[in-house]
Amino acid sequence: MKYIKIKSKYAERIKKILLKHNIFNKNANAFHKEEYVYFPILNVDKQYIKKIINIPFSTVSKQNSNSIIKKLTLRNIFKNDKDVIKSYDLLGNIAIINIRKNITTKMYLKSKAILAAKVLMKIHPNIKTVISKAGAISGIYRIRNFYYVAGKKNYIAEYRENNCIFKFDVRKSFFSSRLSYERTRLIKLVKDNSNVVVMFAGVGPFSIEIAKAHPSSKIVSIELNKNAYLAMCDNIKLNKVKNVKPVFGNVKKIAKNCKNFADFIVMPLPKSSMNFLDEAYIVAKNKAIVSIYVFGQKEHIYNDTIKEIQKHAEKNKYKTNILFNRIVRPYSKDEDEIVIDYEIIKQ
Ligand SMILES: C[S@@+](CC[C@H](N)C(=O)[O-])C[C@H]1O[C@@H](n2cnc3c(N)ncnc32)[C@H](O)[C@@H]1O
Repeated sequence: MKYIKIKSKYAERIKKILLKHNIFNKNANAFHKEEYVYFPILNVDKQYIKKIINIPFSTVSKQNSNSIIKKLTLRNIFKNDKDVIKSYDLLGNIAIINIRKNITTKMYLKSKAILAAKVLMKIHPNIKTVISKAGAISGIYRIRNFYYVAGKKNYIAEYRENNCIFKFDVRKSFFSSRLSYERTRLIKLVKDNSNVVVMFAGVGPFSIEIAKAHPSSKIVSIELNKNAYLAMCDNIKLNKVKNVKPVFGNVKKIAKNCKNFADFIVMPLPKSSMNFLDEAYIVAKNKAIVSIYVFGQKEHIYNDTIKEIQKHAEKNKYKTNILFNRIVRPYSKDEDEIVIDYEIIKQ
């Protein structure tokens, strides 16, 4: 197979010319390596190519592009293209790559994304689909759009964590594998024979993992997004846990049904969990432990959040003990996601 090797900055322009002159070999894939793009071409005279493209280039012969892809590592690709491909997340059979610009309109970026996708699928044979983030998480359901990049066109992820399996449509429900450390931490925090309320439960990862590790505990798992709620119900069956009660609805309305019920309360809605301190107090037994997730300014995030929790306690005549805090993940240039565990003392 013959390839034309050119600097990446010329890629878009040269591909158009090769296509226009019917030189592009459509039976093979273009690929990217270091600062060059390689386009497969038909067997034509080099002088002819020189005449039509008019920029510095060389031609190379390779047995097939797969052998080159094998030699590439993700580290090479991401190191050379930090400006284009920022990060990736693995959700079992689906990989989600994070590309800075719109890959559907920029041919050059699209070819890089496809190459990265092929390398990902080679390195992780379980990955059958690669998609790219197409915007930020937004709205009350905390979901986002995706572009299809490569592999099987499928958006149903099958993800395993802490001996549990979760099936869900990545376009319709929130899910983050980056919270796996937190879920493992909470499995250790929760005790056997306790009552747990998981607010903002999504497709059920906190609830089901805690339930599986503590079969004698009872978990109430509340979710507002119908799609996420239905996936949670399926995941409860899939994992054969009998001690999770899924509840469809708004925590603001459901809380009163769980008055003084919980020994542990999980609040994984960092964007607005601080608006639900009343509900945490309502569902809490005396000495209940709350794990609350919050976004905040890097510099004074703990102080601001702790002050607000304490102010709420004073106003409502209960006491709090701050037990633990940590940064869960960086969120933006100025903000981190943190978790604070605090105890509610009612008497
Ligand atoms: C950041 S996601 C966390 C989902 C899940 N706990 C996880 O870790 O994968 C927050 C979830 O809260 C749900 N939600 C938002 N407001 C809610 C409310 N008032 N009552 C119940 N659920 C709510 C959203 O639909 C979303 O699924």
